[in-house]
Amino acid sequence: MAKYSFRNQVVVVTGASSGIGKELALRLAESGALLVLGARNMAKLEAVAKTCRQKGGQATAVQMDVSDKESCRNFIEKTIEKFEKIDILVNNAGISMWSYFEAFTDLTPFEKIMQVNYFGSLYCTFYALPYLKKSKGRLVAISSLTGKTGVPTRSGYAASKHAMAGFFDTLRIELKDTGVSVTMIYPGFVATDVRKHAIGSNGKSLEKSPLDETATMTVEKCVDLMMPAIAKRKRELVMTLKGRLGLWLKLIAPGLVDSIALKAVSKKKQPIKKADKK
Ligand SMILES: NC(=O)c1ccc[n+]([C@@H]2O[C@H](COP(=O)([O-])OP(=O)(O)OC[C@H]3O[C@@H](n4cnc5c(N)ncnc54)[C@H](OP(=O)(O)O)[C@@H]3O)[C@@H](O)[C@H]2O)c1
Repeated sequence: MAKYSFRNQVVVVTGASSGIGKELALRLAESGALLVLGARNMAKLEAVAKTCRQKGGQATAVQMDVSDKESCRNFIEKTIEKFEKIDILVNNAGISMWSYFEAFTDLTPFEKIMQVNYFGSLYCTFYALPYLKKSKGRLVAISSLTGKTGVPTRSGYAASKHAMAGFFDTLRIELKDTGVSVTMIYPGFVATDVRKHAIGSNGKSLEKSPLDETATMTVEKCVDLMMPAIAKRKRELVMTLKGRLGLWLKLIAPGLVDSIALKAVSKKKQPIKKADKK
């Protein structure tokens, strides 16, 4: 039985066709939420919505692209047409990268990552905010530990996740007296297809994860941690003890945290090197 009840709460989730968004949708459905799920791949999204309904929730799939402002506006309008309110917006859709900055010969991937991760969250939040204020609802944003500290090969991704943190931390303060809460989620490595889809220095998806995925957190565990944070309107959730220790260490020995980040993406583990530069 679901531990936290989201019964009759209207929850909008972007990037719900796979990974963390999909698992979160299934879990929210079990706890009685009324879901509106967004992503580009409609076949995968419909399948998730169907499973959500089988688990007892109501779920509607809406094809959308977070990098397109009008698509985000339509997504929120469709939610209001269907359920007449929004209680929770989860800004989860995201894409990553995996290559040293100097290896890129074209900067389009950096613009794309910012457009999806940062502007996508901003657009959906902008259109949903009037409804969230009415319901005294919750804003949730999925950042990353790279939204707290830089990581080699993730420059554009880290920038987009830092941008999200700056935006949502500011909104939290601005919305203080409105009853709308802001919860930031900072996962570490989670076993999803995010690294398969990550953009390499040639501007294309890697197609294969460069990481030993067996050493990553399961998506179920990630959502286990997220559910109470969302339910309790936590300010932020920084995943793993290592992640939390890293934040503390960064305050007193930032150079050491840089060395740890460098080691984590060592040449041995890191197949995409500067030498890839064409
Ligand atoms: N997995 C990790 O290790 C990890 C760690 C830290 C943070 N995160 C963050 O967690 C979030 C979810 O990622 P994930 O790990 O679950 O990866 P994933 O399995 O690749 O899922 C990404 C989701 O985002 C959607 N998406 C991508 N571009 C989109 C666009 N332009 N418009 C609408 N939807 C879009 C994808 O759906 P479509 O392709 O169907 O559009 C998919 O549903 C991301 O923000 C990611 O940065 C992940």
